Amino acid sequence: MTKIIIITGGNKGLGFGLAKEYHKQGYKVISISRSKIDKLYIAEQYQCDLSKTDTIEPVITEIFSHLDKTNTTNLTLINNAGDLGNVNSLDNISPSDINYTIQVNLIAPLVLNSLFIKLSKNWDCKKQILNISSGAAINPYEGWSMYCSSKAGIDMMTKVISKEQTEVDNGVNVVSIYPGVVDTDMQTKIRNTPKENFKSIHKFIDLYKNGDLLSPKDVANKIYDLDVTGELKNGQILDIRNV
Ligand SMILES: NC(=O)c1ccc[n+]([C@@H]2O[C@H](COP(=O)([O-])OP(=O)(O)OC[C@H]3O[C@@H](n4cnc5c(N)ncnc54)[C@H](OP(=O)(O)O)[C@@H]3O)[C@@H](O)[C@H]2O)c1
Repeated sequence: MTKIIIITGGNKGLGFGLAKEYHKQGYKVISISRSKIDKLYIAEQYQCDLSKTDTIEPVITEIFSHLDKTNTTNLTLINNAGDLGNVNSLDNISPSDINYTIQVNLIAPLVLNSLFIKLSKNWDCKKQILNISSGAAINPYEGWSMYCSSKAGIDMMTKVISKEQTEVDNGVNVVSIYPGVVDTDMQTKIRNTPKENFKSIHKFIDLYKNGDLLSPKDVANKIYDLDVTGELKNGQILDIRNV
């Protein structure tokens, strides 16, 4: 029997940590990102720029065409790919930058979740969606209007879908997860923001200097443990630092 995760951004950062952890636990891992890593033995890789949301459906349809629902016990989608976007006050961000960041962080997960629910409708196995959100969904950081609002949107999407799926026979279990401050390229980008564009930069520089960043491996391990012990409850918004 097969256990499957489809993950966006499984080639780097937290997504790579999650892909490795689930692969280690015997899952078939399918990753979607813009770039491919040579010889990424832990995952099948599909290339897709998630900002081009019209290109998502053919990729997901192709992925599902290779899956066998009769042989699968667990099917999970992890919406992990994300982009901080340009950091600045909103009046200094261009419409095209706003469009790009919201497409990647919010429209793409909406499209992916919609297609995942539709294409797995007749699957009898355990089905779930893990939306990687952020504490930024509930904490307004000056300079992060796109990032904060897209993550707040992710959480509301989780709440709405969870209600819809409760009504459905063998519906999809949906959660939002705040992974904490994780040592990835995104954190490097945050620390390299021009100071004048981001008032809270010192908080992130200090976390780094004090060795307080979480490793992608540890966060992935925690998420996997919560998953297998059944602690990811439908509709839950979960900060892994509090569990
Ligand atoms: N790091 C943190 O402290 C932190 C804290 C809270 C929440 N998060 C969330 O955790 C998730 C992972 O973040 P991370 O820190 O691991 O970020 P990261 O190191 O910057 O990695 C981002 C991942 O997303 C993929 N991606 C970015 N833009 C894409 C696009 N247009 N199309 C397809 N794939 C795209 C990248 O792959 P390609 O470049 O190959 O496309 C990469 O795999 C994000 O949702 C982020 O918001 C992170």
